[in-house]
Amino acid sequence: MFNKYCYEKYGDIYETNNILRSIVLCRPEYLENFLSNTHWMRSPNHKGLKELGIEGKGITYNNNFRSWTFNRNFFNKAILSPKFTNEVIDWTNELFNELESYWDKLFLREEIIKENKNKLDFIDWFNHYKNDMIIKLLTGERTYSMANYFNTLSDEKSGHQSERVEDSEKLFQAIRKFHTGHCFFFIIYPFVRRYVPFFKNIADNLLQSIEFTNQKLDEIIKRRRQQIEVTPLDKLLPHDMLTSMIIKNTFRDGDYVETDEANRSMTDSEIRVNLFDGISNGSYKSANMLSFIIYYIAHHPNVKKKMLEEIDSIFQDDKMRTINKDDFYNLKYCEAIVKETARILPIVHFNTRYIDKPSEIAGYQWPADTFFLINVQTIHNNGNYWEEPNEFNPDRWMNENFEPKKNSFIMFGNGLRLCPGRKLAVIELVCLMVLLFRKYEINLVDMNSPIKTKCNGILISCVELLVEIKPRN
Ligand code: HEM
Repeated sequence: MFNKYCYEKYGDIYETNNILRSIVLCRPEYLENFLSNTHWMRSPNHKGLKELGIEGKGITYNNNFRSWTFNRNFFNKAILSPKFTNEVIDWTNELFNELESYWDKLFLREEIIKENKNKLDFIDWFNHYKNDMIIKLLTGERTYSMANYFNTLSDEKSGHQSERVEDSEKLFQAIRKFHTGHCFFFIIYPFVRRYVPFFKNIADNLLQSIEFTNQKLDEIIKRRRQQIEVTPLDKLLPHDMLTSMIIKNTFRDGDYVETDEANRSMTDSEIRVNLFDGISNGSYKSANMLSFIIYYIAHHPNVKKKMLEEIDSIFQDDKMRTINKDDFYNLKYCEAIVKETARILPIVHFNTRYIDKPSEIAGYQWPADTFFLINVQTIHNNGNYWEEPNEFNPDRWMNENFEPKKNSFIMFGNGLRLCPGRKLAVIELVCLMVLLFRKYEINLVDMNSPIKTKCNGILISCVELLVEIKPRN
């Protein structure tokens, strides 16, 4: 609301000054420079991030261009391969089956529907679903946080080994703490978080969570290295990100040519930070985005009708068939809904860039150490770039010749730092829309309630989304 107020009062470029002086940019034309190699940094180096052990490593918080390129190449190779895409589709099907087995017991029995008890908090379920999904895709190992969530709601237990279920929940909570808490290390001064009891408790808690996550990831990496060592050379290895990172630039990698230091393989601690980057970026955003999609579909019956027509034209009456890659490429309207939801309510509300040398941006000369906030929401909802910008209209994406104006649609960012998980995210969202809507009728419990969100300044998340679910007629 504050930024909307500033935009309306000051226009396309303005300055805010709280923790950090920030230049807020609200026009796609101003982003031109951020596409180049010179302005690729996301945020300044920061003591807080260093203390958390994530600065200058991996991808997300790395300001060393050589090191970032090295890590990003590994990440891209692992996550953008066709085999990985197949894994995404297979595991979306598989984990949805597990989710359905829980929903069947809790919400879909005839007597439960008759008593109107078929209501659930969508975001809670999908936060757990997405946690299990991203960990499986990136590490190749199963966690059971969905099962744990089921256990908390049901007298009957999930059937998975209780020790593994409890461990999964601990990991889920640790990753969640990082999402909600790492800003704390940006905002609170080192002295305060180290010595003032209330703040020290929060800081220590977050550090313990990161230590726990790192320890779990180290165990997983060690196990996988051992598995790879005992796998005969003629046997195929799995396609998860961890395996790809371990074997890249080793003799087990089909494309490997031994040359120099730049072609070296990754150490375990490098792999760990990349897994952490992938898990922390990949779990939270998709779950929230799916909740927003559900909300907008429920409020636009004409969109819902067209979506169901597309789904039914592909799956006919078959509500059980697993989804495959060809299906995904044919689900153009569902994909348009994903884009339109991201346009109207972008999860990443503000993207950031930082310059460490004097530069010209948006027609002005800026000194070194200037921090920029890219106001994604304003750009996505601007009448100069979008017809009827406040209308939720997926059809705008269906015109074959339609291409958003340059930098006016930046749900996955732009330039060198463009989100590497974009393909994974869209495939998964579209597949989940099909799995949900071809078989179930999903309605909001309260159509009059606005969507409940909170914003940490950069990201928007869904706080609660109560839906009623029943089999589709
Ligand atoms: C709907 C889901 C998602 C949205 C909306 C989203 C959006 C974004 C955005 C806006 C950025 C910043 C880009 C920039 O600075 O220009 C980003 C970065 C990133 N995303 Fe995503 N993302 C999503 C899902 C994922 C997934 C599933 C993964 C991983 C498996 C992932 C991994 C990353 C990583 C590692 C970065 C940092 C890239 C770098 O600094 O080079 N994201 N994402």
